[in-house]
Parts: sequence; structure tokens; C-alpha cells
Amino acid sequence: MTTPFKQHLIDPEICIRCYTCEMTCQVGAIEHDANNVVINADICNFCMDCIPVCPTGSIDEWRVVAEPYSLEQQYEWEEMPVQEEIAAPQGGSATDVEVYDKAMADLLADAHSGVGGKSVAPARAAKPTVNMYNLDRPAEASVQGNYRLTAKESDSDVRHIILSFGALPFPVLEGQSIGIIPPGTDENGKPHLPRLYSVSSPRDGERENFHNISLTVKREEHGVCSNFICDLAKGDTVKVTGPFGATFLMPDDPDARLLMICTGTGSAPMRSFTMRRQRTVGNKSGGMTMFFGARDADSLPYFGPLKKVPESLLHTHMVFSRIPGAPKEYVQDRMMVEEEAVAELLADPNTHIYICGLRGMEEGVEKAFNNIAESIGTQWVALRDTMREEGRYHVETY
Ligand code: A2P
Repeated sequence: MTTPFKQHLIDPEICIRCYTCEMTCQVGAIEHDANNVVINADICNFCMDCIPVCPTGSIDEWRVVAEPYSLEQQYEWEEMPVQEEIAAPQGGSATDVEVYDKAMADLLADAHSGVGGKSVAPARAAKPTVNMYNLDRPAEASVQGNYRLTAKESDSDVRHIILSFGALPFPVLEGQSIGIIPPGTDENGKPHLPRLYSVSSPRDGERENFHNISLTVKREEHGVCSNFICDLAKGDTVKVTGPFGATFLMPDDPDARLLMICTGTGSAPMRSFTMRRQRTVGNKSGGMTMFFGARDADSLPYFGPLKKVPESLLHTHMVFSRIPGAPKEYVQDRMMVEEEAVAELLADPNTHIYICGLRGMEEGVEKAFNNIAESIGTQWVALRDTMREEGRYHVETY
């Protein structure tokens, strides 16, 4: 059996046939006919010289394959093939890289396993690049900033970390995650297992058109990776894998309405969605509604910046559970208070739901959806299943 590997490909829908990549390639791996520009998997040595010269980014396409796509197949393409599910290699002892890759896949599958079933990407969404870097070949990023997002009085230490990839290609879409490899080894002398973090910046960078990304990371007591990240200083370097995730993505359609429910650092993908919309369609979008749960304002990541986002773009419900003298309130409680607005969103086939944060909230949020759907004579489980099949229902919990 052939070991799965990552094949470098060109997206025929985006490529403008300028042949700059072909002229740049030192080893003659790229060729073209009247139809397409293609890459020979037998020759490509992953030098990446062709990536920065491509004016459209169409060269930045990767698929993990058991058998490489032939030149003949690529010449026929009108669009990129979807990423096939690849069976893990059978038999033999797994290498560290295989163990690591499987651990990443398992982590992501677990995060996306929430409230029943396999999620699907929105029907129309940009195609994500996945698994470009792994333990064997991680990307190196340098730290551009590490800012505390929660008040110093708060016992919750949540950080906004900005990582730069310099000239290295690292394409991410809103909703995708990356892996961070903490330095050192575990008690068995093996490299530490990956930790997954959702990217909190949009595809064109934390700073527009700069090749950087941001993460939202909470320091966990005894957390090997979270403490490593939260202690990073400007200029430090970090080993990064990924990107990961091909379903928790935002729809292309600017008129799609987004209903986002999150707690704590689960706000990371919601921030990336909001920034994407802010930079592209602004207020002329279908609108976004967010229920965001935290202990109090001091421990709500991005509290200040969120208050400045115009209501017409993002309608935010900040929900606090530990305000002295006030009753504990969770996101699901506020959804019930806003029952009519949520019901109206549920009834709209243009609504996409995103849930991200503590696994514990799933049950309460499901109950709230059940009650609200019932109030408009809809059966929630059936609606949820339809939404999931249509790529309009997404859960990422941990
Ligand atoms: P709590 O005050 O009960 O811990 P954290 O600060 O740990 O990241 O949590 C973010 C928010 O999520 C907190 O307000 C926390 O409330 C809340 N939370 C905890 N459990 C649940 C749950 N089962 N459903 C909804 N929210 C929850």
C-alpha cells in the first residue's frame, strides 16, 4: 500500500495561465497544455519557489493522496477535486509523524463531533488548504505580539498572539485551526503531541495583506502548550503545523446570516468571521448575531474592540455568569430571552449556525434551540439535520 502523501497542485479555476510558476520551477515539475497548468508529482521537490511568484494563489493547492493525480487527470480538471478521506496505513509500526498526524486528525474529529454527526462545509465556501505542514516538516513562525486580552484583575489569562510566517506560504481560511508544537518531549521521550488552536484572524492576515495570523489562547494550569504560548515574547519562534479543518468555514455568500454562539476562547473563529465581513462587505451583509458567554466583562476576550463593531454588522449579546449580585446567565439563557429573534433566524434558509467553546454548553444550547423551534412549530432535530447536510450547522467544542 502506498503511504499517503501531500501532492502539490494548481487550482484551474483561479489560475490565470501566466506560466510564471513554470518559468520559476528549477526542476521542470510544472508544465501546461492549452487547458491547464499542472504539476508532476514525480518531480516536484516541494522547494516552494513557485508559491510567492503566483499572482493569484492558485498554486497554493494541496491534497493528501494515496495515489498521486497524474498529469493526464490534472489536464482534464475544470475544478479541484475534493479532499478524499484517506485510510490510515495498515500494519507496520507507525512513525512519530504518522502518530502525530493521526493525533491531529483525532483532535479535530473530536472537536467537531458535537451534537451528532459529521459536519459539512457550506455549499459555497472558499476551498481550504489542509495538512500543509506536519511534525516532519513544520512551518516556523515568529511572534509579532503577545497581548493580554483579559483585565489583569481577572484570574482568566487569555492572550492574543500574533504569528508571522514571513515568506513561507501558510494559507488559512476563517474557521480553520493550526497546530502548535510545544518544545521538548513528553515523559516517553517523544515529541509533545499537538495542540490545536482556532485562528482568530481573517484570510488576508491579522493585519490586512501582511502574512500573519492571530490566535486566542487561554493559560491553563499545568498546560504544557498554553503556558508555552502565553509566555512567548516578541521575536520568539514557534513550530506550527496545519492548517486543519475543512468544514467549520464561512459561506461565500455575503447575504448569508450568521448566528454565532460561543464561550471564552471559542470566540476566536467568530472574530475571524467578523473581520472578514468587515473587510469585504461591511454593513451590506446578511448580518451576524453573536451570543458570547464569559464570567464577567473583565474576562471576556476582545470586550473593548467588540463594543466598537457596529450593530448593523454584528449584533452582540454579551452574557455573564459571575457578576456579583446578579443571577448566573449562560448563552442558552439569553437565547431564550431573545427567543423571537432566534426563531426568525431559524426560519430563514439563509441562516448558518456556528457553535464554539466549552463542550458543556452543547446540551443547554440544544435545549434552547429545541424550545425556540417548537415555538414556531418546527422540529429542531429535523431542522438541525437539514442544516448540517446543507453545510449550515457547525459545532467545535472542547
Ligand atoms: P461559569 O461561571 O459557570 O464557569 P471560561 O471562563 O471557563 O472559559 O467559561 C466561559 C463561560 O462559559 C463562563 O461564563 C462559564 O460559566 C460558561 N459556562 C460554563 N459551563 C457552561 C455550560 N454548561 N453552558 C454554557 N455556558 C457555560
